[in-house]
Amino acid sequence: MSDQKPEEKDIDPNKPYKGRFESYHSIPEKGRDKKSLINELSTMANEENEKWKTGQVSGTFYHAGDEHRKFLNEAFSFFSHVNTLQFDLCPSMFKMESEIISMTAKMLNCDAVKEQNPEDEVCGTVTSGGSESIMMAMKVYRDWGRAEKNISAPEIIMPDTAHPAFDKSGNYFGIKMVHIPVSEPDFRVDPKAVEAAINKNTVAIVGSAGNYPYGLIDPLEQLSDIALKHSIGFHVDGCLGGFILPWIEKLGYSIPTFDFRLSGLTSMSADTHKYGFGLKGTSVVLYRNNTLRRYQYFNVPDWAGGMYASPTGAGSRSGGLTAATWSSLVYMGEEGYLKGAKGIMDVADKIKEAVQGIPELILIGEPTFVVSFRSEEVDIYHVNDFMKTKGWRFNCLQLPPAMHFCVTMPQTAVPDIAEPMASDLKEGVEYAKSKAGTVAQTTALYGLAGTLEGNEQVTELVFGYFDYLYAV
Ligand SMILES: Cc1ncc(COP(=O)(O)O)c(C=O)c1O
Repeated sequence: MSDQKPEEKDIDPNKPYKGRFESYHSIPEKGRDKKSLINELSTMANEENEKWKTGQVSGTFYHAGDEHRKFLNEAFSFFSHVNTLQFDLCPSMFKMESEIISMTAKMLNCDAVKEQNPEDEVCGTVTSGGSESIMMAMKVYRDWGRAEKNISAPEIIMPDTAHPAFDKSGNYFGIKMVHIPVSEPDFRVDPKAVEAAINKNTVAIVGSAGNYPYGLIDPLEQLSDIALKHSIGFHVDGCLGGFILPWIEKLGYSIPTFDFRLSGLTSMSADTHKYGFGLKGTSVVLYRNNTLRRYQYFNVPDWAGGMYASPTGAGSRSGGLTAATWSSLVYMGEEGYLKGAKGIMDVADKIKEAVQGIPELILIGEPTFVVSFRSEEVDIYHVNDFMKTKGWRFNCLQLPPAMHFCVTMPQTAVPDIAEPMASDLKEGVEYAKSKAGTVAQTTALYGLAGTLEGNEQVTELVFGYFDYLYAV
């Protein structure tokens, strides 16, 4: 084994450490010394960090300033051995969790709820991430529909652009997820189409603030009115936008109302591990009142191991993450979040201008912190192929083919990142023109989906890829 980095051409990008570091098929008979272990870990982490510290990677690393991460790691270390649910031994855990929930609720204008109905009070739980927050809310609507409306075959209506965690919930919890397509010109869901899909089995509707593909905010005010009119739940997925839109709004940008000021909104997810700048592994799900939250809790009163209860999907949870998340919110403060949002929006505005300055590219919707675009003149996947050669990692979108760049803090740490991006995009468009009529590499990944047979092939490919990655 040699810890020397081999030449790029000899590296399998999915298994770059094969042959370089020991591969463990079983627990080593004799434990390794700490120093060499830490060396190995830091080598991998440092090399991987180089890829995004350039600011060229969309989304993924939200804060990741070294000082901030060091501080959160220290906060984590005090409680890394603690199970958050062990509140009798560690009362600090529920102190911090309840405050994370309260701070998030306040940021998302929970006070408006009391004005609408004095009996309502926003509450919630901390979960392991956006997907779990969404899954918990979907389970709540299933159980609420069953208990209060006698619905045994629940349906939830979601825009095509809502995150796949909603489909995952449908799959896990036996809920029929009814998809509403979005289309040009604004790529947001059509409220009329949502209302037309409501039937006696509908327990809830969904909107995003903003959605992952385009970062766009659905017409939430209309969706809120529809939910009220039909007495059904309305979940706003703020996993991505929940911790940045409030600050973007405060900066003076014109943002449609997206939070508890909407009187039909009954639940909302917001990820502390994205723009909350916490460590990976936490999110918050909020409900308009405790009646709804109660449907999330789980209890086995007569288990041989003693009474068992858990408020979220997970059993034991890391006290380290609770402490780090709490610390992130309290350390950042409104001032820190506003400053972060300002830096992010300055970059996003420049990227938006850059895209608008290239006639072959079409901006999708009215972007805020995610800038997405497509083209009717060139194959956008060729543009992505070119950008990859320049070290950029955009996120590719499909149906229709498009790309997006989600601006996070690493882009604000590099001076004028939008400038090289603009000139590379221009070159990328010229490259795409020169490749007209040929199949882009990116198409190999994205060209299949969309038909039943294509979707089956893609699924087989992706599952096979997981199998490959899980092989030591
Ligand atoms: C809009 C939106 N919702 C939900 C999620 C799921 O979050 P997580 O990956 O933390 O489970 C994401 C993740 O990117 C997202 O962008």
